[in-house]
Amino acid sequence: MAQSSRVRTRSVARRARPVPKLPSIPKDEFARRRRHLMKLMGRDGIAVLPAAPVRLRNNDVEYAYRQDSDFYYLTGFAEPESVAVLIPGRPQGEYVLFVRDRDPTRETWDGKRAGPVGARRQYGADDAFPITDLDDILPGLLENRTKVFYAMGAYPEFDQRVVGWVNGLRAQARQGRHTPQEFVALDHLLHDMRLFKSRNEIDLMRESARIAAQAHRRAMKACRPGLMEYEIVAELLHEFRLHNADVSYQPIVGGGENACILHYRENDQMLKDGDLLLVDAGCELQCYASDITRTYPVNGRFTPEQRAVYEVVLEANLAAIEKVKPGNHWNDPHSAAVRVVTQGLVRLGLLKGRVATLEKEGAYRKFFMHRTGHWLGMDVHDVGDYKIGEEWRVLEPGMAMTIEPGIYIAPSMRGVPRNFRGIGIRIEDDVVVTRTGCEVLTSKAPKDPDAIEALMAQS
Ligand code: GLY
Ligand code: MN
Ligand code: MN
Repeated sequence: MAQSSRVRTRSVARRARPVPKLPSIPKDEFARRRRHLMKLMGRDGIAVLPAAPVRLRNNDVEYAYRQDSDFYYLTGFAEPESVAVLIPGRPQGEYVLFVRDRDPTRETWDGKRAGPVGARRQYGADDAFPITDLDDILPGLLENRTKVFYAMGAYPEFDQRVVGWVNGLRAQARQGRHTPQEFVALDHLLHDMRLFKSRNEIDLMRESARIAAQAHRRAMKACRPGLMEYEIVAELLHEFRLHNADVSYQPIVGGGENACILHYRENDQMLKDGDLLLVDAGCELQCYASDITRTYPVNGRFTPEQRAVYEVVLEANLAAIEKVKPGNHWNDPHSAAVRVVTQGLVRLGLLKGRVATLEKEGAYRKFFMHRTGHWLGMDVHDVGDYKIGEEWRVLEPGMAMTIEPGIYIAPSMRGVPRNFRGIGIRIEDDVVVTRTGCEVLTSKAPKDPDAIEALMAQS
């Protein structure tokens, strides 16, 4: 009789590891923000903030829900169909949340809800009601308040409801009711608060930048001729999702001349030997964005022309970062980048003339047609004024921004040596103003050309 061929298998249970620790905004910081805003509003004001609406992608499929940044900044509450109301000095409670009621059937289909009880217990609301009671309760809260702080225009359907409640009250003014007299732009106050990042926010942004930098390193290591642009996208997404982060905007992965299309999003072409690859990709972690661009040779080695242009952009990036410090103006980093780019283009023979004149005429704009950066925070192009009156804003500790000079030599550009055509380079970092200068959050993504070649040679 044949021997039994039963194989003894030894099963080893897979063990859990500790829950990964990520920074987060503590509850008392949300409370501090609400208190600060209420102080700015004054005791005759009331603020009304709706959650972001759920948006349909196609038929009955929804886009992934992302809370409105202003709403989240004040509440930390991520559910849709909610409204936050701040009523400074109201004896029964200053912070009121309207939220979806608990509903076992809906929760079986769509996930858990906090409900009014959770809104009070977990999110610190003084008072909370089902969202279905909004029309009954909100007019009463508006009564006897003079100013309504509201961001008009962001959600037109909700605008109509707010105007409807206020007009309804005004119609009753003859019965001696005190009704709101004016609408005040809530975004004006709130966006100035959001411009200055707290220590906890900077911790989150540092983590968001660290994850994005790691994703760029992963993409650099994977990159080789013959790969498709979307395969680089896959490397980026893999790293983001490993850390429970998602994209903060659709990644731009442009090989060769695609790098000259600033918002290239097709990401469906093959990467060619001898071309550069421009990757502009950042992630969002707990509503905080990173935004990084790196440009590198598909085959791991810069050609002399590519390296020459690259070094100009890198010098512009470093010169701009040097200008990020308290007391300087918003525009100083841009001016520094423009100077270096213009000098570099003259040195390379791509522009002819005196640097000062070319700068004044804006001749560099043919190659560098965007600004050197933008505020960065909960929104990738974050809120906050760039000018106060006619003056560029003075930089202060806690402000976060990108530094992203570039040179793009369109393939069709005339009067440019053939070897330069189709080269598009941008180098983008995220920085936060500190007391003495700035912190570069994205330094883990290599940008020195030798460091890039060394990393790409490892794979
Ligand atoms: N990724 C968009 C930007 O760099 O502004
Ligand atoms: Mn950017
Ligand atoms: Mn970018």
